[in-house]
Amino acid sequence: MSEQKFDFTSVIDRKGKDAFAIDALGMEEFKGMAPSKPKEGFDIIPMWVADMNFAVPPSITNEIKNRLNHPLFGYFFPKKEYYNAIINWQEKRNGVQNLKEENIGYENGVLGGVISACNILCSRGDKILVHSPTYIGFTMCLENNGYKIIHSPLYQDQNDNLKWKMNYNDMEEKIKKEKIHCAIFCNPHNPCGRVWEKEEILKAMEIFEKYDVQVISDEIWSDLILFNNKHIPTQSVNDYAKYNTIAFYAPTKTFNLAGLIGSYHIIYNKKLKDRIVKESSLSHYNSMNILSMYALIGAYDKIGEEWLEELKQVLSKNVDFVVNFIKDKFKGVKVFKPEGTYMLFVDCEEWCKNNNKSLDDVLNGCWDVGAVIQSGKAFHGEWFIRINVASPFERIKEGFERMDKYVFNK
Ligand SMILES: Cc1ncc(COP(=O)(O)O)c(C=O)c1O
Repeated sequence: MSEQKFDFTSVIDRKGKDAFAIDALGMEEFKGMAPSKPKEGFDIIPMWVADMNFAVPPSITNEIKNRLNHPLFGYFFPKKEYYNAIINWQEKRNGVQNLKEENIGYENGVLGGVISACNILCSRGDKILVHSPTYIGFTMCLENNGYKIIHSPLYQDQNDNLKWKMNYNDMEEKIKKEKIHCAIFCNPHNPCGRVWEKEEILKAMEIFEKYDVQVISDEIWSDLILFNNKHIPTQSVNDYAKYNTIAFYAPTKTFNLAGLIGSYHIIYNKKLKDRIVKESSLSHYNSMNILSMYALIGAYDKIGEEWLEELKQVLSKNVDFVVNFIKDKFKGVKVFKPEGTYMLFVDCEEWCKNNNKSLDDVLNGCWDVGAVIQSGKAFHGEWFIRINVASPFERIKEGFERMDKYVFNK
């Protein structure tokens, strides 16, 4: 790795600093969701909640600080710079041409946007196609809002390094049988780490077009593409995709800004655009926070981009290390090396069965020694654990050494 300009090695103590990943451990109100606290003598290595243990690029804090120098925070509307930052970012990073301000709209979180989109594409109780394993946020929001999730399981190709793939026959059958007209597409896929290729998106789109299915494409992870992979915006694959997809993006995952909130949609179809803007305005809740606007402007600039390039190197190194560590030392544990995101979805079934252990034994064993990983059950991976590797390398190494010594090779 070439010399780094930004600091991805310092271990920052987040305790008591508004960090769910640290402070929620063992709390009664988060029982069932948050892991337990480690035993005496072990500190917390957070490898669960999908945020990072790295400071944001200085361009973000500088933009926010500059704005704070003007101590008035009244009603406002998004600046031209906000839209221009998105238009330039999408062109530079994703090759999106001719994106216009009118195609972009603020969303108070990607999940909120997903639900607004469902509300305009479906009527209550409608069935929505979602791949499984499934991001837990989709499951919770869709169920909370009265939609029925129809899962189309991805499968791991045994002849292709356990790569997760779509089962097009299954998708088509379910769409036809269940009369589905709305699908959620996660590109790149959380938790499986696939960065979908153009041919794969096209094949899915052909099925969607054939059955008049409109698509909600969650591209929140699209900046975090590892190794030699490339993000293909869902809307870019053909005209049907362009005019029948509601796409969501955000700087929050990329730049560790989840606590500031702030996502946006890209929609080319005027009717869908007008309807989603109307839908999300009904509650008067979908307004931008002024500091999150400046955070995006700071994120999507040259320094932000340089920082992101370094981050991707750091994440790639961590992913390489972890995948090799698992293959070398955790006999019977299987993992597909993610092409994007900073999450690993790890199959412990064979190891558990060979060692007469349950998934809870694995989880509790790891939590006891501060290697705070997450159960894959809520993502529809009965025997899986989900591991976040967005921390300084030394912390990830330490976490895996503890898992080796105290859990998998005790
Ligand atoms: C695929 C996916 N979509 C949405 C979100 C959450 O986005 P937001 O906080 O903007 O609602 C996450 C967070 O992990 C995610 O992984």
